[in-house]
Amino acid sequence: MCGIVGYVGARQATPLLIGGLRKLEYRGYDSAGVSVWSNGASRVVRCRGKLQNLEDKLLKEPAPGTIGIGHTRWATHGRPSDENAHPHKVGAISVIHNGIIENHLALRQELAAAGAKFSSETDTELFAHLIDRVVRSGVKDLTTAVRTALAKVHGAYAFVVMDDDDPTKLVAAKNASPMVIGLGDGENFIASDVTAILAETRKILFIEEGELITITKDSVAITDFEGRPKQREPKIITWSAMQAEKGGFKHFMLKEIHEQPRAVADTLVGRVDLERDDVNLDEVKLDVANIKRIIFVACGTSYHASLVGEFLIEGLARIPVEVELASEFRYRDPIVGPGDLVVAVSQSGETADTMAAVREAKGKGAKVLAISNVVESSIPRLADYAFYTHAGPEIGVASTKAFTTQLVSMVLLAIYLGRRNGKLPQARARELLSELLQLPNKLKDVVDHGAQLQVLARRYGPATGFLFLGRGAQYPIALEGALKLKEISYIHAEGYAAGEMKHGPIALIDEHLPVVVLAPRGPNYEKVVSNLSEVKARQGKILAIATRGDTDIGGVADEVVLIPDVAIELQPIVSVIPLQMLSYYVADFKGTDIDQPRNLAKSVTVE
Ligand code: AGP
Repeated sequence: MCGIVGYVGARQATPLLIGGLRKLEYRGYDSAGVSVWSNGASRVVRCRGKLQNLEDKLLKEPAPGTIGIGHTRWATHGRPSDENAHPHKVGAISVIHNGIIENHLALRQELAAAGAKFSSETDTELFAHLIDRVVRSGVKDLTTAVRTALAKVHGAYAFVVMDDDDPTKLVAAKNASPMVIGLGDGENFIASDVTAILAETRKILFIEEGELITITKDSVAITDFEGRPKQREPKIITWSAMQAEKGGFKHFMLKEIHEQPRAVADTLVGRVDLERDDVNLDEVKLDVANIKRIIFVACGTSYHASLVGEFLIEGLARIPVEVELASEFRYRDPIVGPGDLVVAVSQSGETADTMAAVREAKGKGAKVLAISNVVESSIPRLADYAFYTHAGPEIGVASTKAFTTQLVSMVLLAIYLGRRNGKLPQARARELLSELLQLPNKLKDVVDHGAQLQVLARRYGPATGFLFLGRGAQYPIALEGALKLKEISYIHAEGYAAGEMKHGPIALIDEHLPVVVLAPRGPNYEKVVSNLSEVKARQGKILAIATRGDTDIGGVADEVVLIPDVAIELQPIVSVIPLQMLSYYVADFKGTDIDQPRNLAKSVTVE
């Protein structure tokens, strides 16, 4: 994970680096640091903990200069500490790194045998030593020195290197960790993603695997690792910098929960064709007739969205679907190949496990469709087809609007497939499409009723555990509700298929255990109510999410949160919002670090 940022130009680098790191802190916040050059040498200022610690330190130890690099860390090799914070400097060479050097043990031994002295436990410092050795062997050109050192390194990386002896340029290299270049007027930027530099420029070059970049204030040169030049046209990013700001909300997560009606509307734009009762997915062009099976690969929240996708696609398009945890998929030699459509779901488009699963699937001849929120991120670029959710930048580590827009994408995909293979009747498609268009208003209704969740969070927040139950497409929502609560409030929670409760978790139930039950109207309703009664009989406290107009459920549940009535296929999109809000308010009352919960990072770029 980790966030990297670099600047070369005429302005003071440090405020720009800090501004960029502030936007990248979601990628890791174990430590932060900058290296900025002026008057013959770079000054490295770095420390353990959040960016604020670095900013405080910079007040006492300013780092002036117009070229520099900055880093925010999610620890992999070496605990969070001042010494392990990036940048790492060896001789005249400063390095920042996002990724993992896989052959670090062998390199450390080799460098130690050659007399290197290490000042950190990190793998990154080894790369600084390697470059330093190349430079000391007589290679004065930094780009050549970095290329030479790279030949010894295996793993995932986005490196940026600065040389005190040539303070006009930054040299960067990318393999399997994200990197973008921002083009300015007499200045240029490097960053892990566009949000870090969006306030400064919208002209972006997306860097691809195996590329080496040399930037000065007036030029950007891209080559492959053999030094062969590569051409790239800049893309203009249309997100506004404001979308990556909190906009008056206490946390990004709360802002992003409230953005869901707008985000869902944006996902639908141009994709609902009411004249033909169809979905317009021009960007995808799937060979539907030849899809024999669909396999979803994803992690975390995106995995939960995929489980809903299984329900939708099997239901509406009658195509067999499997859902795989991306982190497990490639380790069992999966049976996948031509005729399979692998759908890789990833908000960030950078998750290493999902990327590895995509490579595995492509290597075995399957076609890959990526569903992602980040345009031009690695997974969509690797895939055969890309479908973007258009939720806008999601900064809170706990995914909210990315999830609901993934669910909308699943509905669109299921209708698209069903209309093309003839399994979805036109009239049903029409009903669903018109309901989809009404969805943003219904979501706004749910979000606007958040005050009840605040009250419930205060009442049940002191509990030490929660159980979430659902059936059918509400089962993944139970999993998602439990994940949200765990990751931001640190309260243990389990998501369970309601019918499975009596096979084990029922033993947990007593008067201290809040049980959140997803019970919207539909074919599973009666069975879910029976499960509620089983909880009630054991004194469990029941919080039910039910459809507005349901007057029966109050007879069994202790608390009822009512949501608008929508088609069964759209219910998960509506029912998850109260769970997001419950988790948010529980965490807020506990006072946890909601946008940057402990041990987590937004984008998990290590396997
Ligand atoms: C969601 O709240 C989590 N923080 C996490 O599970 C996330 O969904 C997972 O890491 C996958 O990320 P991706 O969608 O960017 O691939």
